[in-house]
Amino acid sequence: MSGPAPSQPFLRACRREPTAYTPVWAMRQIGRYLPEYQAVRSRMSLLDLCKTPEAAAGVTVRTVEVLGVDAAIIFADILLLLEPLGVGLSYVKGEGPLIARPVRTLEQVRRLPDVDPAEGVPFVFETVRLARQGLDGRVPLIGFAGAPFTVASYLVEGQPSRAFLETKRLMRAEPEAWDGLMSRLAALTARYLNGQIAAGADAVQLFDSWIGCLSPADYRRYVLPYTRRVITSITGGVPVIHFGVGTAGLLEAMRDAGGDVIGLDWRVDLGQAWDRLGGGVAVQGNLDPVLLLSSPEEIRRGVRGVLDAAAGRPGHIFNLGHGILPETPWRHVVAMVEAVHEMSAARG
Ligand code: CP3
Repeated sequence: MSGPAPSQPFLRACRREPTAYTPVWAMRQIGRYLPEYQAVRSRMSLLDLCKTPEAAAGVTVRTVEVLGVDAAIIFADILLLLEPLGVGLSYVKGEGPLIARPVRTLEQVRRLPDVDPAEGVPFVFETVRLARQGLDGRVPLIGFAGAPFTVASYLVEGQPSRAFLETKRLMRAEPEAWDGLMSRLAALTARYLNGQIAAGADAVQLFDSWIGCLSPADYRRYVLPYTRRVITSITGGVPVIHFGVGTAGLLEAMRDAGGDVIGLDWRVDLGQAWDRLGGGVAVQGNLDPVLLLSSPEEIRRGVRGVLDAAAGRPGHIFNLGHGILPETPWRHVVAMVEAVHEMSAARG
């Protein structure tokens, strides 16, 4: 299999090496705002699309061509791993992901089946293989998984949550159940990511989207050891991007959990956050995705602000602070990518 050229800016930035321009990709870059994606989704459900590797790899590759980004991310979802656990995963329009049989007791944790990702979600690995072929070395391919806490929060709550009451209750009131659940998820996630790497992923991103609901002390005690276990289990020396939302109070703890690149949301100043993280990590971020709803001029101003905060330090990957919103005009995403390339090249 031919790999991407090592000179490619995304992989160089993950290693904090200088690049001719700042590489950019966007979280939820494959999504409802893209007409080509909408056309595919009008024919199949989200789960069916994920389970049809030709189609999932197709939208992965086409999105890179439409947007002109420097990295591709496989089309999948962080909750796919829950389906073979038999908990009843579904995506309900307007409500988000639902789990029919949430897991809230030690007994329920113990009853979860042992799952081999190669058998439970074989289509994801096939998507990685086909996307790698389709990209043909043009840009690197990012595999991904949900981090144990964020996946556990869906499994325990059963539905999207704001306060994560059930998750925090389990964490504190039933330490044995929590440890059992997080240990299982950490092992499963490590196997899943290593499978994606074996299938051809050039980097992996761990999404811990909802850790912002935790205090630093709780994060360190109830989450960090399990996330660290996943990250230290990653094989092949591929870069790991560790991302969370609402993490201004957790940055140092996230860094201590691991990752070559720390993904920042838009609520922090990227330069100050990087100073706190220190020189040992690269940084990804952090434009407010809502800005993509405004004008190309506003978008350029926002891009300049993020590039100014990074101040040309090697190891910056430009991204949004969270996912692209469905109402975003896709041409604005293209304008953002062009602005990042143009302004960062001029600066160098
Ligand atoms: O970035 C990409 O384009 C790659 C594909 C991708 C999807 N989900 C496909 C998807 C990625 C990287 C994810 C990650 C994901 N999924 C996260 C972490 C990132 C983040 O935004 O914090 C989370 C928390 C999930 C769980 C999830 N899946 C949610 C909250 C939703 C939205 C539910 C809704 O209806 O609004 C999903 C569904 C989902 N996964 C969509 C996509 C493109 C929605 C679009 C559709 O229904 O076609």
